[in-house]
Amino acid sequence: MIVLGIETSCDETSAAVVRDGRDVLASIVHTQQQHKPYGGVVPEIASRCHIELLPGIVDEAVAASGVPWSAIEAVAATRGPGLASSLLVGWSMAKGLARRLDVPLIAINHTEAHIHSVFLDPAAPDPHEAVPMLALAVSGGHTSLFRIPRYGEIALVGRTVDDAAGEALDKAAKLLGLGYPGGPIIDKLSRGRVADPRAFPEGRVREGVETGGLRSDLCLSFSGLKTALLHRVTAQPPADDDAVAQLAADYQEAVVQALVKRCDKALGDAKYLAVGGGVSLNSRLRVCLAELCARRGVSLLLALPKHCGDNAAMIAALAAMGRGITSPESFALDIAPSWAV
Ligand code: KG4
Ligand code: ZN
Repeated sequence: MIVLGIETSCDETSAAVVRDGRDVLASIVHTQQQHKPYGGVVPEIASRCHIELLPGIVDEAVAASGVPWSAIEAVAATRGPGLASSLLVGWSMAKGLARRLDVPLIAINHTEAHIHSVFLDPAAPDPHEAVPMLALAVSGGHTSLFRIPRYGEIALVGRTVDDAAGEALDKAAKLLGLGYPGGPIIDKLSRGRVADPRAFPEGRVREGVETGGLRSDLCLSFSGLKTALLHRVTAQPPADDDAVAQLAADYQEAVVQALVKRCDKALGDAKYLAVGGGVSLNSRLRVCLAELCARRGVSLLLALPKHCGDNAAMIAALAAMGRGITSPESFALDIAPSWAV
């Protein structure tokens, strides 16, 4: 099955053509640079960029795939979660294309696609066999833990109660005057440094905080961390670049340890740990997850770096697994900015 995937949930404009759910024939990902001066994604600018770029990017992906338009057997697009005005661009275009090509339209959940992105690595096992699994989706927009006892049975077991991990890193970088997006900058500055794991409070969720019925010890909170950094910087501004880099490394360590500890607690009988999303690129997180999995006898599945951030290949690949909502129901659907897995 050859699927054309479209992804426009935030600030990446992306299209991909994937064969049989694993074989990425073409994948174009354009990261919008227009948001940099604002230190965060500006929804109005993002949607305008998607409108301008998406038709050309879809054409480019199909041309690069080497298959003719007539070979496309389904169109899959992100329906949510994400920014409403961004989602609308990709979802509307997918609807129009599916009608024009007279093929099924498949509505895909973006968070589930991040989890599935680990299977785009040719070395990854068959998704049906990689169970029981614990999955962490960790990016600028989400930080959620899922238990997957059998393929397709996904249960949310933990999540952040405030900021996402990537958002916490981005906000810290902004506060330290390091630029945007902050995750990769903090990652780079921290390399080779010994971080103090006690420099910042762990992102623990106190008993009594609303977690939507989830176990509080499997949930995370990053807002206190951000406030602690603000207090530190205000009370004692870092003297030089070295002090800034050490603060960044200590802060990153707190974020990483919070994530790794929740994974450790939530693993249960899982034999696989899958981690996807932009923050899964973080080199310190990758090392700590590998240590955790070695200690617990669990196989770690990480997405290839090119599939960690938002991309349409993961959308098309998940659609080929029979997931998502397909035609005729999908044509009647609107976008779902808060769509839970
Ligand atoms: O998955 P993604 O591209 O978009 C969302 O769905 O949010 O993730 C973007 C997030 C940003 O917060 C960015 O700072 C973070 O991923 N990120 C990183 C790294 N590379 C990107 N965070 C930590 N270390 C990295 N190397
Ligand atoms: Zn994402």
